[in-house]
Amino acid sequence: MDFKEQLTLYVARTESGLKAHTPAPDTRPARLHEAMRYTLEAGGKRLRPVLALAACELFGARADALPAAVALECVHTYSLVHDDLPCMDNDDLRRGRPTAHKAFDEATALLAGDAMLTHAFHLLSSAYRSDPALTNALVLELGDAAGSRRLIGGQMADLLGERQKAPSAEELEFIHLNKTAAMIEASLVMGALCGGATPVQLERLRSVGRLTGLAFQVIDDILDVTADTATLGKTAGKDLASDKTTYIKLHGLDKARRIAQELTDRALSELRQLPGDSSFLAELIAGMGRRVS
Ligand code: IPE
Ligand code: IPE
Ligand code: MG
Ligand code: MG
Ligand code: MG
Repeated sequence: MDFKEQLTLYVARTESGLKAHTPAPDTRPARLHEAMRYTLEAGGKRLRPVLALAACELFGARADALPAAVALECVHTYSLVHDDLPCMDNDDLRRGRPTAHKAFDEATALLAGDAMLTHAFHLLSSAYRSDPALTNALVLELGDAAGSRRLIGGQMADLLGERQKAPSAEELEFIHLNKTAAMIEASLVMGALCGGATPVQLERLRSVGRLTGLAFQVIDDILDVTADTATLGKTAGKDLASDKTTYIKLHGLDKARRIAQELTDRALSELRQLPGDSSFLAELIAGMGRRVS
């Protein structure tokens, strides 16, 4: 199977996993469950679930990584719904559609986000209940990545970083490593946990995720200034409008591009240290480095 076919297969597995492992839209109260489905099914790139599914297969797929992949996409999607709220980035467009608070209302978007976050942990606890050690490791990993020291800490620092006259490179890296790289790291690690990777392999993969995730947010910053709204499916030019602390603001476009390339190259060379056929992951990570949306 070539890369494209494999990617299509992983994305299709994710889509059916999302349907199977989240409450049906007519679950009472329907308005809440419709709002959850509205953003979940809007068609994101599904990179985090794909990273998890591929990492699992790299180590022989001891357990099915699909529920973990769905849990990751639920947390990621919740983070987008909240990120777009008027009190955060105040965005009207997400995944090519009006944001959840525009299509529904702010309270419904807030609650749908809360529900997706909680659902992720419920799903991990129920889907892996026959393997308590695996459940524990997955909950620990996701709880850490989504928590106040990582994703939420990064989001807080991102808001505090608006309109800063001279933000430091260290502060910028803190924001990006936590608001974005944490979940990309967790995707590879949770997949590898399901696959049965050793502690040394997990740490190697964590490092791949950290570098890939940092590159991913540097490119998100680049696309915010170089791509258009229709291609992105979210409003372009938002970072400049909010005067965010970004790689463009600190380093300019050319240097940001060089940094993203260097981080991607480093991620790929870390990946090559792992045993097994990592060609799919290598192509995926290289492709994330060249993405246009
Ligand atoms: C958007 O993530 C938010 C960031 C962390 C940059 P993605 O670019 O993966 O968004 P979707 O899931 O494809 O919509
Ligand atoms: C996204 O950062 C980080 C999270 C959603 C956790 P951004 O605010 O740059 O993401 P976009 O550009 O709105 O997707
Ligand atoms: Mg934001
Ligand atoms: Mg945003
Ligand atoms: Mg952005």
